[in-house]
Amino acid sequence: MIVTIDGVAASGKSSVSGGVARALGIPYVSSGLLYRAATLLGLEARLDLAEAAPLLAHLRTLPLRLEPLAEGNRIWTGERDLTWELHQSAVDAGVSTVAAHPKIRAWVDEQLRQLPPPFVAEGRDMGTNVFPQAQAKFYLTASPRIRAERRSAERPEDVDAIEAALIERDARDTVQSAPAPDARVIDTGPLTLEEVIDEILRGVRG
Ligand code: DC
Repeated sequence: MIVTIDGVAASGKSSVSGGVARALGIPYVSSGLLYRAATLLGLEARLDLAEAAPLLAHLRTLPLRLEPLAEGNRIWTGERDLTWELHQSAVDAGVSTVAAHPKIRAWVDEQLRQLPPPFVAEGRDMGTNVFPQAQAKFYLTASPRIRAERRSAERPEDVDAIEAALIERDARDTVQSAPAPDARVIDTGPLTLEEVIDEILRGVRG
C-alpha cells in the first residue's frame, strides 16, 4: 500500500504524514528532504545551483541514502547524517532552484521508487508524478495567513514576513504542486493536527 500526502509549503505535511504513518504502523517518506540534501551537497561543493548537469554528476558520485523511519526521516552520505543540516536558511533559499530542474526531479523520483512499500509518501507531486498508482491520495491546503501564523509559533520571525515568503514560495513551486485529480483535498485551516490525521485515516480505511 502507498498513501500520498501532498500539499503547499507549511501546510503541516510532515507532522500529518508522520502521524498517519505511525497510526498505520508503516514508514513515511519525505521527498522534500531529498531536494534539500541535493541543495546542501551542491552548496558544499560550491556548485552553481542553476546548473543541473554538474549538480547531478556530483550527486551520482555520493553514497546518498534516505532512511524512511516512522519517527522522522534521515538522510546519510555514507556514515555522515545530513538530516539536521537540511533546514538551514541557505538550503531554504536554494531548494526551489534545485527542485525546478527536470533532471534533478528524475533523480529524486528514482530514489523514491526504489523504496519498498508500504509507506506514506509526502511532498508536492507524490500522487501525480511519482506514485500515480497509489491507493489513497490526499492534498493539504491552508491560507498563507494561517500557515504563517503556525510557522511564527515555531520561529521568532514576524508573521507578515513569513506570509510574504510563503506566497513567493507557493508561486515558485506551483508547477509541481497541483493536486492529483483523484486526491482528496483537505483545507487544514479550521482543523487541528489530530483532526487532519483522523480524516486521512478514515479515507485510507474507507
Ligand atoms: O517539503 P519541503 O518544504 O521540505 O520541501 C522543500 C522544497 O522541495 C520545496 O521548496 C519544494 C520542493 N519539493 C518539490 O519540488 N517536490 C517534492 N515532491 C517535494 C519537495
